[in-house]
Amino acid sequence: MTLTAWVNGRFLPLDEATVHIEDRGFQFADGVYEVIACFGGTFLDMDAHLKRLQRSAESINIDLPMTLPELATLIEQTYNHNPFDDAMIYVQVTRGAAPRSHLPNAGLTPTMVITSRHLPMPSAEKISDGINAITLEDMRWKRCDIKSIALLTSVIGKQEAAYRGADETFWLDADGHLLEGCATNCFAAINGVLVTHPLDHQVLGGITRRMVLSVARTHGITVQERPWMLSEAELTECMMSSTTNAVMPVCHINGEVVGTGEPGPMAIQLRNWLLDEFDKLKRHS
Ligand code: PDD
Repeated sequence: MTLTAWVNGRFLPLDEATVHIEDRGFQFADGVYEVIACFGGTFLDMDAHLKRLQRSAESINIDLPMTLPELATLIEQTYNHNPFDDAMIYVQVTRGAAPRSHLPNAGLTPTMVITSRHLPMPSAEKISDGINAITLEDMRWKRCDIKSIALLTSVIGKQEAAYRGADETFWLDADGHLLEGCATNCFAAINGVLVTHPLDHQVLGGITRRMVLSVARTHGITVQERPWMLSEAELTECMMSSTTNAVMPVCHINGEVVGTGEPGPMAIQLRNWLLDEFDKLKRHS
């Protein structure tokens, strides 16, 4: 199936959907993005994603070229051109194209691109064995709360993880606290409490993170948003979350087992509760 993308006002076959070589996204990574899941035609927390996109764009002084309801309609139309049962929508907005200059000219027309494609689910093996992660000292910028397209450190983190036979890198602050992954938020079960780093400039406010904390609280699990370390005595499980993974147990970090080395009960429960929520969405669509 040939994918159709929306680019600057037009639906085009993916191969023909191109942007200017002087686009500031290409030259300066001067832009922001979102990844939204869609199950059976129902978008997962579209409003939250669009609001985060707007917040990210405002943080770098880009005006979105349309209102959020207009953008939601365009996203739906792009999905309808590529109607996968499990779909992943990518929206990118850059400041626009202009002769290269670090200081952007005022009044540029933002470039906007939307794609929709199949969302691959984690393999059964990964779900039953858990994720293998490594940690590295955080070398990213100090505004990780902005969903910027400048993802070079994420690329390096993923490459280093792959080189060491792992799937994800979790970033550590200078004191050794786990912040988040290259493209995931991370959590621990510590003494039966679900713990994750608080929202600040060092982590992205994940939409899935918010859902995970919400289903945990609904089911009576205590949640603490505080800095945490792998060396904490009562730590029994680790897990990570993202739009593309839901919740995944993390069973090995830096080659050492976490807890029993098998997916723990809290990660399994949270994953199942979250997938139940997604199923409800599918049934209502
Ligand atoms: N990444 N932290 C980082 C650094 C991320 O890039 C992401 C998402 C998350 C999880 O956010 P959410 O639950 O809203 O997907 C946390 C997307 C999926 C990506 O870059 O492909």
